[in-house]
Amino acid sequence: MSLEIKNFDPRPIGVFDSGVGGLSVLNQLINHFPEENFVYLGDTARLPYGSKSPLTIQKYVTQNINYLVRHQQIKAVVVACNSASTVLSQIQLASDLPVFGVIKPGARAAFQISKTKKIGLWATRATVKQESYPKALKDLDSTITCISVPCPLLVPLVEEGLWQGDIVDAVLNHYFNQTDFNNLDTLILGCTHYPFIKSSIEKVIHKKNLKVNIIDSALALAEDLSQAFKNNLVQKNSSALKKGSLSLLLTDEASHFMELALKTFPSWENSKFQLIDLNQIV
Ligand code: DGL
Repeated sequence: MSLEIKNFDPRPIGVFDSGVGGLSVLNQLINHFPEENFVYLGDTARLPYGSKSPLTIQKYVTQNINYLVRHQQIKAVVVACNSASTVLSQIQLASDLPVFGVIKPGARAAFQISKTKKIGLWATRATVKQESYPKALKDLDSTITCISVPCPLLVPLVEEGLWQGDIVDAVLNHYFNQTDFNNLDTLILGCTHYPFIKSSIEKVIHKKNLKVNIIDSALALAEDLSQAFKNNLVQKNSSALKKGSLSLLLTDEASHFMELALKTFPSWENSKFQLIDLNQIV
């Protein structure tokens, strides 16, 4: 009789974004892998990423990952930010840590659901400019057309806690008018901040009588991580159903961030929170 030997790895999974956006991904990961320990880094001092150049974003991403590896001893990193995920192929990391970005899983989810093969992308300027989504979609099916629209006003709205109401509707209408919905059946929310206003987006879709699937990367990314556990690319924390821990790290003032986080995830009230200065850390 052969005994299957399983290795467990209690180290946390690092997740980062410029601000609250990545919490939409983290929430999905905690739901899928409640036994895992997570460290969330919100780079609030340097937010927004989506209006920065690729070189600046590369610098931030490298610094964030190096910090999480050296100072938080993570076993894998989830780049819960589309703007940051677009530069992953352009950076060199010191470690061979498994890195999960949100672009490929988001593109895959959109590809799987779209019938018309005309897919919309709402994202930050940086993500649209890098063309990572159109490329990822074309890799899956060369006949796909991707209609990309930069929506720079949505991140400040979400960070401000304005997730519904007249101002949000006015801004959304502006972006709906800039998007060619003719024959388009799927819209990728290509910024992890946008799921916070998903119900407002759905309301406008309903009002305009459109038939559009809304996709964000979080669920598909959780599937990627699940696959990585199965393939032993990342080892699970344990087989026991013990709840893992969550630490929140921010690079700037925390009260507003925590207010927004607790508005959506009240159960995080007792999570450990720490302010860090990435410039002081080597
Ligand atoms: N949440 C990030 C994204 O998915 C970026 C927001 C920003 O900092 O501009 O692109």
